[in-house]
Amino acid sequence: MPLANTTQSYGSVARILHWLTALMILTAIPLGLIANDLPYDTSEALAQKAQLFSLHKTLGVAVFFVALIRILWALVQTRPQALHPERRAETALAEVAHWLLYLSLVIVPLSGWVEHAATTGFAPILWPFGQGLPFVPQSVTVAETAAAMHWLFTKILIVTILAHVAGALKHHLIDRDATLRRMISGRPAGKARARHRSWPAVAAAAIYAVGAGVAFALMPAHEAPQPAPVVAEAPAPATTSAGPNWQVTEGTLGFGVRQMGAEVQGSFADWTAAIVFDEAAVEGKHGTVTVSIATDSLTLGSVTAQAKTADFLDTATHPAATFTADILPADQGYVAQGTLSLRGVQQPVSLPFTLTITGDTATMQGSTTLDRRDFGMGASYSDESSVGFGVVVNVTLTAQRVE
Ligand code: HEM
Ligand code: HEM
Repeated sequence: MPLANTTQSYGSVARILHWLTALMILTAIPLGLIANDLPYDTSEALAQKAQLFSLHKTLGVAVFFVALIRILWALVQTRPQALHPERRAETALAEVAHWLLYLSLVIVPLSGWVEHAATTGFAPILWPFGQGLPFVPQSVTVAETAAAMHWLFTKILIVTILAHVAGALKHHLIDRDATLRRMISGRPAGKARARHRSWPAVAAAAIYAVGAGVAFALMPAHEAPQPAPVVAEAPAPATTSAGPNWQVTEGTLGFGVRQMGAEVQGSFADWTAAIVFDEAAVEGKHGTVTVSIATDSLTLGSVTAQAKTADFLDTATHPAATFTADILPADQGYVAQGTLSLRGVQQPVSLPFTLTITGDTATMQGSTTLDRRDFGMGASYSDESSVGFGVVVNVTLTAQRVE
């Protein structure tokens, strides 16, 4: 069995690569469509959806590498001559379809992979290469652009495959020529003269360029994530007579949860802190703090939307969360001890933190672990297999003394 193509036949390498990629693609497409449509309203449903997506992505990444080998091989090979080169329009259409398929074999998996790499959490790729991609930042905008591309290019791929298969069947059943047979058996067919032109490849690239333009145009306008606009502005808590005497100049309010066994980092972009603090304790108390959080400013990897639903933060009904606390001395610095009000539930919370004051600038770093069940979050996720119970909250901020 010859390995290489001739002007009349496909060699065994081209045929194996053709049927292998066909099989992989025809498996990846239904996996993607089905996984996308599955509900995720219960723990079991989410686990099943994640499993299918993991399979889809793992297979898709394999397609990418097989496709690269296939394209490199095709580049150094003779392309067998069409069996009816005199049917110019039909032959040209078949060639455009082949080029579209080659492009799709790279761009479809790559767009999915970039979408995956730009976000965290949910349905890992099962290959042991890690989940990120070099040069792909963690960014909602990058993830959404890649998702729009993946959606659109999978549609171009599906339409092209339908046309490609229809063409192959037309040759086999209507023209009754050897087009399909030579792709299956490798036996030569047709004239030995080869004639190739480059415009079908250019046409395929143009279709893809238009597709990319449409994907960008369909994208929702996205602003770059804002750094936390943290300005102390809330009124002074009733327990003290003085107003806030520290103004927060920068800071982050982040948290981590375990999802499907993997750590996912989230944060709130919009929150304010009113701080009254004095190094000298009065009656055992250094001051007070009131933190107000706009719950809708949450980002949590690929599950941001889900985390905002009624099952979790319920941001529509409870757009604000507040933490009101006294600042007390502790072994390793201080502790903010008070009440966290989250999705209408009040619970006592202690946040130990360290503080470094240099002149009039203070840097604070604190961390505490909450249990989502204390706030009635994720009631339908009753075990930890899909969403962990513990939520590790991390706060860092820099504040300036204002007298
Ligand atoms: C589903 C994914 C598929 C992809 C991505 C794909 C891709 C391609 C590409 C790029 C070529 C050009 C030659 C080559 O590189 O080998 C080709 C040729 C061919 N494909 Fe497919 N194909 C797919 C499925 C199928 C199926 C299901 C059939 C049969 C019903 C088929 C029948 C053929 C035939 C007969 C040729 C040879 C055409 C000729 O000699 O001009 N393909 N395919
Ligand atoms: C040849 C390979 C691939 C094919 C044919 C393919 C096909 C599909 C299809 C048909 C869908 C459903 C789209 C819809 O109608 O909404 C889908 C969704 C998806 N695919 Fe792929 N895919 C491939 C590779 C990948 C890879 C490598 C990844 C990630 C590593 C990936 C990640 C996703 C994700 C996250 C979705 C969910 C929908 C979204 O957020 O855009 N895919 N894919």
